[in-house]
Amino acid sequence: MPHPPAPPANLPADQRHGAHEATVHAAATLRGRIRVPGDKSISHRALMLSALAVGESRVEGLLEGEDVLATAAAMRAMGATITRGEDAIWRIHGVGVGGLLQPAGAVEMGNSGTSTRLLMGLVASHPITVTFTGDASLSGRPMKRVIDPLASMGADITASPGGRLPLMVRGLCPAVPISYELPVASAQVKSAVLLAGLNTPGVTRVIEPVATRDHSERMLAGFGATIEVEATNRGRIISITGEAELRPQTIVVPGDPSSAAFFMVAASVVPGSDVVVENVGLNPTRAGLLTALRLMGADITELDPRSVGGEPVADLRVRHAPLTGIEVPHDLAPSMIDEYPALFVAAAFAGGRTIARGADELRVKESDRIAVMKAALDACGVTTTEHPDGLTIEGSGGEPIAGGARIASRLDHRIAMSMAIAGLHARSPVTIDDASPVATSFPGFFALLETLGGTVSWT
Ligand code: S3P
Repeated sequence: MPHPPAPPANLPADQRHGAHEATVHAAATLRGRIRVPGDKSISHRALMLSALAVGESRVEGLLEGEDVLATAAAMRAMGATITRGEDAIWRIHGVGVGGLLQPAGAVEMGNSGTSTRLLMGLVASHPITVTFTGDASLSGRPMKRVIDPLASMGADITASPGGRLPLMVRGLCPAVPISYELPVASAQVKSAVLLAGLNTPGVTRVIEPVATRDHSERMLAGFGATIEVEATNRGRIISITGEAELRPQTIVVPGDPSSAAFFMVAASVVPGSDVVVENVGLNPTRAGLLTALRLMGADITELDPRSVGGEPVADLRVRHAPLTGIEVPHDLAPSMIDEYPALFVAAAFAGGRTIARGADELRVKESDRIAVMKAALDACGVTTTEHPDGLTIEGSGGEPIAGGARIASRLDHRIAMSMAIAGLHARSPVTIDDASPVATSFPGFFALLETLGGTVSWT
């Protein structure tokens, strides 16, 4: 068999085929200005809603990570025309609400829980049958939380044992509107029901006792859907009127605060650092890590606050500062749920103890992020205590941690990136056994780390 062509020498190391084990060395200091890729949650929604609008929508700043590309492929398989111009603008010709077509085969969702759960909602009220498959991580994640409400709207869903992937959704058209109180604080479940409601006659309601990220509500309103949000003593009540007609939009996707998180922590813990992360989305339903880091004493300034695509955005200047352990307020959990692995790393360098509890949802992310981060930090010489709903971490008081470990990233991008950051201030380098999952949400992460002064070697 002929050998594949050698990768071009100028390709960032994390994108070179075959190099998956990354070793991160201690950095003297981190300095510079960077821009992180587009927001993953907003990118998924931009593709899905554009695919349901009649006419051409344009999306600028779309995250071109594997998870979002899985959504694009699925929307194409269901009839949308989606192209990327050389100007990096994505153009989407939608099929109209109610117009999704039967895909020819199963749709492969890779590692992406958001694609899977939101698309299950869309399919539930269309007259099509779709089989969803995914990688080992996604196939272990619970889907019952979306199956239950979508089944009560009339979808017929056959799942693998334990309510897992592969699963098949046979949509019902017309579906039945429901009023559904979320039993878990999950924007994916909320969004699945709202998206099912788009093609359902009447009003579909979601009651959200604990507020979660509201990108779906904002974007549905932007596309012209009739959607109302009421703050009540039961929580937020979101009502969507079905059989909607969506109008094509031009969307500018802000930078992902969940990707900025790694650099916010890195610059806070590596002595002498001064980093600006430009264009970071600061929707209050996503900004919990900023609050938590500030409670710990981080020095983070918001520069040039502005609005991008209907979302608040700023450039964040982060300078090294001594951090102090805190008890992380439980009510921050929904607004920083994806940032706990990065927060645990910040806590490992703080003075004293950090107690982060009330985050049991971490157990069902791309990995069990409580158990996996405990194992990773322990292997790097950090003392931690595991709780059912979080971790207690004894910090180093700003000193480097021991490091010198090979970390199992377990198909979880955020474990890989968090532990890479831990390696920046460790006595011995930290190796990530498989850094390839980083490409699901943050292609170019390691190259950006190197532009700030980090050193990464690949094997
Ligand atoms: C997301 C919601 C969250 C988050 C995920 C993205 C979304 O999941 O962890 O990365 O885009 O709606 P849950 O709904 O499971 O909390």
